[in-house]
Amino acid sequence: TLKDNTVIVVLGASGDLAKKKTYPALFGLYRNGFLPSGVHIVGYARTKMDDEEYHKRTTGYIKNPNNDPEITAKIEEFKALSSYVSGSYEDPAAFDNLNKVLESIESGYQTKERNRVFYLALPPSVFIPVAKNLKENCYIFKGGVNRMIVEKPFGKDTASCRELLTSLKQHWTEDETYRIDHYLGKEMVKNLLVLRFANVAMGAAWDKNSISNVQITFKEPFGTEGRGGYFDEFGIIRDILQNHLLQVLSILTMERPVSFAAEDIRDEKVKVLRAIPPVERNDTLLGQYVAAGGKPGYLDDDTVPQNSVCPTYAATTLWIHNPRWEGVPFILKAGKALNEAKVEIRIQFKDVTQGIFKDISRNELVIRIQPSEAVYLKLNAKTPGLYTRAMPTEMDLTYKRRFADIQIPEAYEALILDALKGDHSNFVRDDELDVAWKIFTPILHWIEGQSGPRPKPVTYPYGSRGPKELESFIGKYGYKRSVEG
Ligand code: BG6
Repeated sequence: TLKDNTVIVVLGASGDLAKKKTYPALFGLYRNGFLPSGVHIVGYARTKMDDEEYHKRTTGYIKNPNNDPEITAKIEEFKALSSYVSGSYEDPAAFDNLNKVLESIESGYQTKERNRVFYLALPPSVFIPVAKNLKENCYIFKGGVNRMIVEKPFGKDTASCRELLTSLKQHWTEDETYRIDHYLGKEMVKNLLVLRFANVAMGAAWDKNSISNVQITFKEPFGTEGRGGYFDEFGIIRDILQNHLLQVLSILTMERPVSFAAEDIRDEKVKVLRAIPPVERNDTLLGQYVAAGGKPGYLDDDTVPQNSVCPTYAATTLWIHNPRWEGVPFILKAGKALNEAKVEIRIQFKDVTQGIFKDISRNELVIRIQPSEAVYLKLNAKTPGLYTRAMPTEMDLTYKRRFADIQIPEAYEALILDALKGDHSNFVRDDELDVAWKIFTPILHWIEGQSGPRPKPVTYPYGSRGPKELESFIGKYGYKRSVEG
C-alpha cells in the first residue's frame, strides 16, 4: 500500500536519467493520481541553481505537444510540490543540510508518520558515499520507512558486483533496496507471467518437446553518439544482455511461482538462472558498426578510444540444464546502430510430424516488447477455397488495435509506483544479480583480454540488420526461416 506523508528525494536531479526518465515518470504518476497524498519531491545534485531553474529543467522533458490546458495546470501543481537542494555527494554536512530541509517539509504533516524514498539517479562512482551519507544523516529510525532505489551498473563482473553489494549492505538492507532493471517495468514483460501461467494452451507447449529455439532480440537504430566514453568501458553485453535480456529470459523460462509474492517470483527466477552455465566462446558472435550511409562508425566517435575492439553487437546462445529446457538454444542478441528499433521474443516451435504435410512453416510465437506491443502466433491454416492447401498466416494481438483506448504506462512509472508500494517483484534481488554476472563474467573477461589476446569483432554497416555472419549463427541453432506462402 502507498504511504501518506512521503518525501521522494531524487539524487542526481540535474542528470540525464532524472530529466529523461525519473521526472517524467513522477509527473505521469502525479497526473494520474497515483502519488500518495501530500507527497513532496526534493531534487538534490551538485549544480547550484534556484527552484525556478530546477523546475525548468525537470519539467522540460514532460510531453505536452498540443499545450493541453489540463496538463499545463498539472505541471504547475507538480512544480509546487517539488523543490531543490544543492550539495556534494561526499560531504556529510551537505546531507545534514538535506535532512534539515526534509524535516522542515515533514513538520507540516498532520500525523507523526514520515516516509522517505531516495532515488539514486547517479553514476556508480558515488553510489557508496551517497548510500552511507543518506543512512547517517537522512535516515528515519522511528515512525516511518526508508527506501533506496538504485540503477545499473551494478559492478562490471561477479567480483566487482559483490564488492559493491557488500559495501551498500553495510548501510541499507535488502528489504530497503530497490534495484531497477527498467525492462521489468515494461508492459509486455509484465504480461509474460499472465500469458504463460493463465493459459493452459501456452503452458502445455512451453518446453523442449514443443519448442525448437528461442531468440530474444534488442535492436536500436542509433549508435553511441557522444556516450562512447561510458559505452566503451561497458560494451553491449553489460549494457543490454546481462541485465535486460537475461531478465526477460528468466521470466520466460522459470517454473510457475507459488504466488505473485515478490520472493516467490524471484526464487523461481534465480533457480532457472542457476541452471545456465557461463556463455561459451563458440556460442558468441561479436560485432562493431562501421560508417555507412553518411553515419559515423563506432571508431569515428571522438569519445571512443582509438582502435577499440569493444563490441556494439553481440549474439550469445545460452543453455538451460533442467528437464524443461535441456537442449533448447536461447539466443540473446543486441546491437546498436541497426536498421530499426525493436525488442522482441521469438519462440520457434518444432516441425510438425512429416507425412501429410511437407515444406510447411513452423509455428512461431512472437512477443513484441516494443515498439507497438503485440503478441502474434504464426500458424498454418487452409487456404480458403475448394482445395486443401496449407498457408502460413497469423493470429494477431496488436495492442494498438485491440486496446486502442488504453494508454500503456511507461516502465519507470510502473516501477516507481511499485517501490512506493513496497512491492519488490519487479526489482532485481542480490542473488539474482550474482547469478546473472556468473553467466557472463568469463566471456566478458575473454573479450577484455584477461585470458589472452582480445577477440576482434566482425564489422557491420551502420543502419544494417547486423553482421552478415548472423544468418549462419542462428542457423547453427536450428532456426528455420518460414516458407513463403
Ligand atoms: C539502457 C541502456 O539500459 O537501456 C541504453 O544503457 C539503451 O544503452 C536503453 O539505449 C534501452 O532502453 P529502452 O527502454 O529504450 O529499450
